Amino acid sequence: MPHINDDYLKLKAGYLFPEIGRRVKKFADEHPDAKIIRLGIGDVTEPLPPAIIAAMHQAVDEMAKRETFRGYGPEQGYDFLRNAIAANDFQARGANVSADEIFVSDGSKCDSGNILEIFGADNVVAVTDPVYPVYVDTNVMAGRTGDADAAGRYAGLVYIPVTAENNFTPALPDRKVDLIYLCYPNNPTGTVATKETLKQWVDYARANDAVIFFDAAYEAYITEPGIPHSIYEIDGARECAIEFRSFSKTAGFTGTRCAFTVVPKGLTGKAANGQRVELHGLWNRRHTTKFNGVSYIIQRGAEAVYSEAGKPQVRQLIDFYLENAKILCAGLRSAGLTVYGGVNAPYVWLKTPGNKTSWEFFDHLLAKANLVGTPGSGFGASGEGYFRLSAFNSRANIEEAVRRIPAAL
Ligand code: MLT
Repeated sequence: MPHINDDYLKLKAGYLFPEIGRRVKKFADEHPDAKIIRLGIGDVTEPLPPAIIAAMHQAVDEMAKRETFRGYGPEQGYDFLRNAIAANDFQARGANVSADEIFVSDGSKCDSGNILEIFGADNVVAVTDPVYPVYVDTNVMAGRTGDADAAGRYAGLVYIPVTAENNFTPALPDRKVDLIYLCYPNNPTGTVATKETLKQWVDYARANDAVIFFDAAYEAYITEPGIPHSIYEIDGARECAIEFRSFSKTAGFTGTRCAFTVVPKGLTGKAANGQRVELHGLWNRRHTTKFNGVSYIIQRGAEAVYSEAGKPQVRQLIDFYLENAKILCAGLRSAGLTVYGGVNAPYVWLKTPGNKTSWEFFDHLLAKANLVGTPGSGFGASGEGYFRLSAFNSRANIEEAVRRIPAAL
């Protein structure tokens, strides 16, 4: 009989979002007339912009003709997309990233989990708390932790609280860590990091020979000037950071799947014999061995994000969700709730009213207002007493949600 990976048994029962789905399904089955509005998982609701659809249609037509048909593409992504990403997302912001440092993939969730394969098991890992649960769970699966305590904190991980008490600014670790996850704009709190904050982290990483995994999946939602969109806008970041980006929330690709990861050349880790090894080469080896690339049709769609027609359409889509976030924040505040985020991010983070736990508020909101959100404690122990609402929905549903909230307080 094969042995299983026992580390999986350390994981909490279910991944957060399926667990929410399970509870909502149970409620819906028991209350078939309830008009449930889902502001839980951050999944986009609006159609892909026309320029993207047109590019995908054209690519489909190319696949129908012998002369333009394509089979396997380059695993790292087609040059047309990698060049567009390098020019628009990085070089236009003064960040020094070249096309051959970009690896196109089918998602940042997968990449942020898979990246662990090129790092040894004995690295000390730091995460902010609350945090996108994938960072924690993939380290548990990889055997880098002990068991979880009653609050859900795994032994061996270094948790850095980010709460209203510290203005959602993570303090530098009080011990040496090797791998650090930072997500800005932040999921779940919707807050951002200033240049000064990121500089401190880059300086820490360089001084401690650590690598930062910088998840910038929500960078397109930054509205305030001066907030860095990429960690490579910070001096020295190329020597210590890998960045994850996604078209999911930027341009509505959650269903079509396209993302990318930047592994700068010259960024190194240490082998057991002390030799320094380039992470770019290791990730290239992993990516080309285990992945056959994103489909040509989808990559043409992603390229159109940067086209003259696509840019304003994508901006309009993001502005639509940001307006939803604004409406949510205003509605919650006028109902007397304390609210964070929602200005540079599609997520609104609130204090649960009446000292309810996050899950108590989840059940209450579902029962009284038929609204679904995400319990803060699902993102980590320091998320207890908080709750996340996603701005990804139709305007009508957001306005209806705001009308229903007072009834649930
Ligand atoms: C979320 O709701 O946090 C996101 O949708 C999760 C994800 O992007 O995987």
